[in-house]
Amino acid sequence: MSHSAPPKRVALVSGGIGGLGTEICRQLARAGRRVIALDLASREERVAAFHAETADFDDDIAFEPADVSDFDSCQQLIARIEQQHGNVDILVNAAGITRDASLRKMTPQQWHELMQVNLDGVFNMCRNAIEGMTERGFGRIVNISSVNGQTGQFGQTNYCAAKAGVHGFSMALARETARKGVTVNTVSPGYCDTPMVAAVSADIRAQIVAGIPVGRLGSPADIARAVVFLSADDAGYITGANLPVNGGYFMSF
Ligand code: CAA
Repeated sequence: MSHSAPPKRVALVSGGIGGLGTEICRQLARAGRRVIALDLASREERVAAFHAETADFDDDIAFEPADVSDFDSCQQLIARIEQQHGNVDILVNAAGITRDASLRKMTPQQWHELMQVNLDGVFNMCRNAIEGMTERGFGRIVNISSVNGQTGQFGQTNYCAAKAGVHGFSMALARETARKGVTVNTVSPGYCDTPMVAAVSADIRAQIVAGIPVGRLGSPADIARAVVFLSADDAGYITGANLPVNGGYFMSF
């Protein structure tokens, strides 16, 4: 009698073609997941580069256009994915933007744009994925927060509020789903080698790097490793936790 392999778990990664997202997709595929990267369709050049960067996992990484800040778009997307690829077992919310400005200069637009992606986006995706996960009795949600949500950063009242909010959201949802086989955790990256960090002025960035005990920026692989760990099938007893991956930049207990 032949035994066919069980179907691969489906992992959805928002911000999937971004600075951290691409490597998260690659590592999840390497860990045996069928990965769907979500990102804005408008990032056409990045979509082409993403296909090249993930060519070695061609069959296991697909791209779907979506805007996480739009509830209806997320709802339609998850319905479409469940039809085409199977149920969503793992959800990684890595879509995030910065709109840095000190509060005295911050416009309402900078505040709202950031909240719509970094915080509403987490609600929009989780709200549409959660029922299927709890009905099936399995789910792994990993939300990408930030060290700056834990410790604050000059020029980031909007970003820090959203990222701290992401962890509060995750703890609350973790309680709601703990008995249904669904875990909800956050990963809080420090400063990593991504376009988002490269956009910080060189002198401020140098000051920040000087304060990182490990002595370097993090790599996307450092973060992806934590996501793979928390989304593993046998990580079912870790929920409501925050896993900092920041090179020692902020240590707490
Ligand atoms: N720390 C301390 N003082 C600062 C400062 C800082 N980071 N930035 C500006 N200041 C001081 C200036 O020296 C100036 O002082 P004086 O008035 O005495 O001359 C005053 O504050 C200027 O204030 P402004 O309101 O005019 O601020 P600005 O427009 O010059 O700078 C900013 C604002 C560009 C946002 C700047 O503060 C900055 O780059 N901050 C760091 C932003 C940052 O680290 N972003 C992280 C992006 S990556 C990311 O978010 C990923 C992740 O999760 C880690």
